[in-house]
Amino acid sequence: MPLETLSTREPGKRASSGALRGAIAGYGFISEQGHVPAYALAGPECFRIVAVAERCAARRAKARVALPGVHVYESHLEMLDAERGNIDFVDVSTPPCDHARIALDALSRGLHVLCEKPLATTTADARAMVRMAREQGRVLFPCHNYKHAPVVKAVRQVLDAKDIGRVRMVTLQTFRNTHAKGVDDWRKDWRRERRFSGGGIAMDHGSHTFYLAFDWLGAYPTSITAKMSTLGPFDTEDNLSCSMTFPEGTASAHLSWTAGVRKVIYTIHGERGAVRVEDDDVEVSRMTGDAGAGDGGHGVWATNHERVSSNWKDASHVGWFRSMFDHFARAIDAGDWVSRETESSLRCVDLITSAYASALDGSRERELTGGRW
Ligand SMILES: NC(=O)c1ccc[n+]([C@@H]2O[C@H](COP(=O)([O-])OP(=O)(O)OC[C@H]3O[C@@H](n4cnc5c(N)ncnc54)[C@H](O)[C@@H]3O)[C@@H](O)[C@H]2O)c1
Repeated sequence: MPLETLSTREPGKRASSGALRGAIAGYGFISEQGHVPAYALAGPECFRIVAVAERCAARRAKARVALPGVHVYESHLEMLDAERGNIDFVDVSTPPCDHARIALDALSRGLHVLCEKPLATTTADARAMVRMAREQGRVLFPCHNYKHAPVVKAVRQVLDAKDIGRVRMVTLQTFRNTHAKGVDDWRKDWRRERRFSGGGIAMDHGSHTFYLAFDWLGAYPTSITAKMSTLGPFDTEDNLSCSMTFPEGTASAHLSWTAGVRKVIYTIHGERGAVRVEDDDVEVSRMTGDAGAGDGGHGVWATNHERVSSNWKDASHVGWFRSMFDHFARAIDAGDWVSRETESSLRCVDLITSAYASALDGSRERELTGGRW
């Protein structure tokens, strides 16, 4: 379904004038190292974090030190009751198993929600969140921070300039030598426990892979086939590879926690050229002459290399979040409750869970709703 049919454009609403007043649910790694510094970078005229709900006592103590004067609670419900009328949005940064519950509790109380990826661990939960945002007229905004990496913005510029023509094929490889770790104070290996994570690397990182594929192909896929493997005694996968069919193209992805290096490699292929990204390195090849007998029928190419510093090794992505938070604030001001980002985050959950279903069924192809933008 095209995004526009899901959006309800009405004037945005804030509980307060001026800065957006936020409450964080889950003060762990990404909250402490990514979101909070990015809110600070944006400045107190844009965002003020006034409350934190955190189930772990050691983390509550750290929140009190890092955010002097902030109101700290043990549960998000306690926080939502106590902060009624004092906050505009809730930043959901807990492990995925609790995203839907906390987001629904916040949206139903008339609050906007910024939600870490994945939006939810089931399509039904993700749909319920989108439905609630529309019914309540409040923004549900996913953390699609990879779109704000300078190198990914550089890719977007190449595509917008129409230099390589219509994109027909995308490959996305995410190599990690281990699963990402949470803070030591709580369960730092929760990504290896399905009851917290909802899955392995595909549930953890797949959203970043898939929303980039949607963006570059300008559409949602119509089918997927997948294969996965787990190397240790865990109930979450280490490796997932998949092929997706799009209305006018294809994509393939490989995600690994057992690689020999930490790196992303993306290739984007258009009718007249291609882009290759390897962390900060961007190579753009453009066809400069028509295919002819003199060149073996392949065409004539010009290739540019550029380094676009994006700080990939730093998993906190503060600069990327800083840029993304502007879009969150804009969505609130515009009353864009369910934006293309939100729709993409729902499609990501559907794709990841469909990939799991395919992998568990001998890689049988699964149909998806699909659709062009
Ligand atoms: N967008 C990105 O680049 C990025 C990077 C890392 C993590 N993340 C996402 O952020 C989320 C958190 O990951 P993390 O690495 O920060 O994990 P973490 O373990 O470091 O932090 C999670 C925190 O949430 C707390 N918590 C757990 N359940 C809670 C609940 N019901 N209510 C309140 N507090 C609760 C824990 O005590 C812990 O302090 C996950 O969804 C993850 O996918 C996103």
